[in-house]
Amino acid sequence: MNVATPNITAIGGSAPGSIRRPIRQLDAAAANRIAAGEVVERPAAAIKELVENALDAEARRVAIAYADGGKTLLRVTDDGTGIPPEELALALSRHATSKIDGTDLTDIRSFGFRGEALPSLGAVGRLTLTSRWAGAAEAARLEVRGEVIGATRPAALARGTVVELAGLFSTTPARLRFLRSDRAEAQAIGEVVRRLAMAAPGVGFTLTDVTEPDAPRELLRLDPEPGDLFDALPGRLRAILGADFAENALRVEAEREGLGLAGFAALPTFSRGAAVGQYLFVNGRAVRDKLLVGALRAAYADVLARDRHPVAALFLICEPEAVDVNVHPAKAEVRFRDPGLVRGLIIGALKQALAGAGHRGATTTGAGVLGAFRPGPAPAWQPGRAMPTRLSRAALGFAEELLGPDGWSGRVEPPRPAELADGAPAADHPLGVARAQLHATYIVAQTANGIVIVDQHAAHERLVYERLKAARATSRVPGQLLLIPEIVELDAAARAALLDEAAELQALGLVVEPFGGGALCLRETPAILGAVDGRALLADVADALIEGAGRGLAARIDAVISRVSCHGSIRAGRRMSGPEMDALLREMEATPLSGQCNHGRPTYVELDLADIERLFGRR
Ligand SMILES: Nc1ncnc2c1ncn2[C@@H]1O[C@H](COP(=O)(O)OP(=O)(O)OP(=O)(O)O)[C@@H](O)[C@H]1O
Ligand SMILES: [Mg+2]
Repeated sequence: MNVATPNITAIGGSAPGSIRRPIRQLDAAAANRIAAGEVVERPAAAIKELVENALDAEARRVAIAYADGGKTLLRVTDDGTGIPPEELALALSRHATSKIDGTDLTDIRSFGFRGEALPSLGAVGRLTLTSRWAGAAEAARLEVRGEVIGATRPAALARGTVVELAGLFSTTPARLRFLRSDRAEAQAIGEVVRRLAMAAPGVGFTLTDVTEPDAPRELLRLDPEPGDLFDALPGRLRAILGADFAENALRVEAEREGLGLAGFAALPTFSRGAAVGQYLFVNGRAVRDKLLVGALRAAYADVLARDRHPVAALFLICEPEAVDVNVHPAKAEVRFRDPGLVRGLIIGALKQALAGAGHRGATTTGAGVLGAFRPGPAPAWQPGRAMPTRLSRAALGFAEELLGPDGWSGRVEPPRPAELADGAPAADHPLGVARAQLHATYIVAQTANGIVIVDQHAAHERLVYERLKAARATSRVPGQLLLIPEIVELDAAARAALLDEAAELQALGLVVEPFGGGALCLRETPAILGAVDGRALLADVADALIEGAGRGLAARIDAVISRVSCHGSIRAGRRMSGPEMDALLREMEATPLSGQCNHGRPTYVELDLADIERLFGRR
């Protein structure tokens, strides 16, 4: 036989249907292996099943160990109720479960319900089950080898259950070859454990790599958090997602028609470049559900660029009847009785939380800036000599002392009082009083207890965007007639895109007409923009229309509004007067979501006095 062209009959038999065998019942071993293929496709999936069993058994502590990415060994130890010795063998047979009686598949309140996980695991590796039923005199052990269930024997175990799975997929080499590197499989295990641990904050978890049996590496230790689920949740999320998430997250809580939503969603400035920070749970079950992910995405659509992904941990709670959990082999997806209600609840609650955050930007950006202010090389002054007053005072009166009036982009402004014009103390205004403009780009403001640096262009862009959207939603956006219409030359595609949407653009305060000879005539621009470069504006809007060609009208208009906003007259490089800067700050305070620009970048950063004092070693 020629190696390059293998004989199909030799490897795969003849064409389908040509030799038919009689129908027959597969034996239990084959059936288990087939079922196992769906339930455990990789070590992390086995870990998920075992930890869910531990949680169903009301464990307070769960210890997870693996070797070689889980390929050679997986072990889950819990302190739950255990299994009575006479039921051990039953636990390993298919469709045997203590969790439902089978009469009502709509009322599922446990992770498990199929009675498939343990038999499936027994079919793909060497399984050892040791358990001590609460109150039993001793523990019992059972081994499955080559799919043969052994005899139940007495064993030593103080309480709970230990399930060990060795040589995963050693009986199905094809599947073994599909596994990824040890490191990738280990990573997947870590991810699964973190997800499970989020939904059970009252339970303690450890995750240990025992590849080197003499030098185990503990990768994760989560102590049980006190209190009920929602008291315990913040602590657990902080432990898993980090203090950064905790500081940049908004609490989300909503309820509608018996459907509850709770959890935390991060500020848009804390977004990620991939959908990796999205933890979604339905009645405590981690799911990767399209509906939920879509709703999360939609809620942030206004405040994130298309290539950014929100970060959130959200828990949806409903009556078991309102959701079908039996639609996916690994239970990773669910089906809702009323998907519209779920979507509406999530989008509504998140938008409200985001709007409530108002002008809040990300604190981590502040921390990053702080890092950039790292002290320079060894001090030039001698010990005992006073620090240069200019520098140390700058720690408190940053703008005034360090920069002086001449430092304000070279312009001299009359000094203004610490109060605002209307006499209100700066504390009423979280973004403070504008003190200086630096590099014709940044506004430095003094707040009640620190300083704020605003990116004037990003901030103005956000304000324009919000105003345009609001105006567009209620009526036509006010346009400003150009005294002299601008004649703009654009390529044919851009011209066509603009003229096709001329009516929509007119509603946005942008009036364009054909001018013959491949040119367009721009008659009106949105008044809010101020004086703009008409050609650049039209070219950008045309790009947005061409890019969005396949999308719906609303999405295209959003894209246009976003582009138009960039053309506001307050751009980087424009000098601003004190009152003009203060007006911008006040408007930011009054505008929802002004803490980040349309691309999810922050519009301002804040350093409080404590941070500044730390910079100068005063703390
Ligand atoms: N760690 C454990 N502690 C106590 N009992 C357990 C444990 N693991 C399994 N069991 C018992 O063994 C039974 C079978 O477990 P298995 O995971 O195969 O099925 P299940 O959890 O009922 O359903 P599913 O297949 O959906 O996970 C369970 O119903 C439970 O009674
Ligand atoms: Mg189970």
